[in-house]
Amino acid sequence: MPTENERESIAAESLSAEDQALDLTLRPRTLAEFVGQAANKEQLRIFIEAARNRGEVLDHVLLSGPPGLGKTTLAAIISNELGVNTRSTSGPALERQGDLAAILTNLEQGDVMFIDEIHRLPRTVEEILYPAMEDFQIDIIIGKGPAARDVRLPLPRFTLIGATTRVGLMTAPLLTRFGVSCRLDYYPVGEMVQIVHRAAGILKIEIDETGAHEIARRSRGTPRVANRLLRRVRDYAEVEADRVITGDVAARAMVMLQVDDMGLDVLDQAVMEAIIDKFSGGPVGLKTLASAVGEEPDTLEEVYEPYLMQIGFLKRTPRGRVATPRAFKHLGREPATGSEGESLF
Ligand SMILES: Nc1ncnc2c1ncn2[C@@H]1O[C@H](COP(=O)(O)OP(=O)(O)O)[C@@H](O)[C@H]1O
Ligand SMILES: [Mg+2]
Repeated sequence: MPTENERESIAAESLSAEDQALDLTLRPRTLAEFVGQAANKEQLRIFIEAARNRGEVLDHVLLSGPPGLGKTTLAAIISNELGVNTRSTSGPALERQGDLAAILTNLEQGDVMFIDEIHRLPRTVEEILYPAMEDFQIDIIIGKGPAARDVRLPLPRFTLIGATTRVGLMTAPLLTRFGVSCRLDYYPVGEMVQIVHRAAGILKIEIDETGAHEIARRSRGTPRVANRLLRRVRDYAEVEADRVITGDVAARAMVMLQVDDMGLDVLDQAVMEAIIDKFSGGPVGLKTLASAVGEEPDTLEEVYEPYLMQIGFLKRTPRGRVATPRAFKHLGREPATGSEGESLF
């Protein structure tokens, strides 16, 4: 086993420069190119067309869901389909009211303003967003002390697109100001296969049906993970096989990458092993668990846990995280009879 320092997680959310370049190259540009998420796509297609036909500005759109499922991609597609300009920023980058005001007052009629990680918007900044979204105007205070005065600035009508991995952390006043809300969920294997084929085509990688299926089913329902795995499997295929990614080549590459049969990478495995072996199946608190695997609690909660819960390996209970009998079985452990973890099911 690699040590903690050299452990490289396939699902990791921090993007290397290489990953960012890959994301850009492989990003679909139109709704038609965007694979899957049929219900969300249909909804967006109709709202975009209706707004365009009436010559109106599209309602504000909230995109939520785990990392790597296509939120940033969809935001870019929406403004592309509307044929408008986009100003992009993120919640943490907007530290002061003035930062947001500067962007808003520079928008043109119909433009899209994209705020990534909108749940991390400071409260004072969020407050000026309410009238901006609702009445297309902002009230800001200019100057300090006795010279300070209130100024009301009119804004052009614009569309706010917000993206978040943590919709539960958003305030009700902000949530209710979005007219359209799309929740992205993990993709089924069939759609993941299409995504792998599409990416392989763009990157000119030779892959057969079983190879695509092997990568698709181990990509935790996440396009970004599929793209990363595809590239690494290609490296393996070039060095250890005759370039072509077959099912067998992909399976061997996964052994090297330490991605297991369910698509769990080393960190997912470490999380489940910690709960089962160190904490007798749980319940264990998030912080304790995070420090046991040497990861940030936030990352654990945003990136790893949603998938582990989705496949039924992990449960969140009021007293902490618990491993399910299914997880015990997958890791080849016997559930301890009468243990606290088991008694919860
Ligand atoms: N539906 C999709 N079809 C094809 N590729 C996709 C799809 N969704 C995401 N991707 C790929 O995954 C990458 C990550 O998507 P991104 O929009 O950055 O995710 P998020 O913003 O939700 O973290 C994109 O660059 C794109 O290559
Ligand atoms: Mg994104």
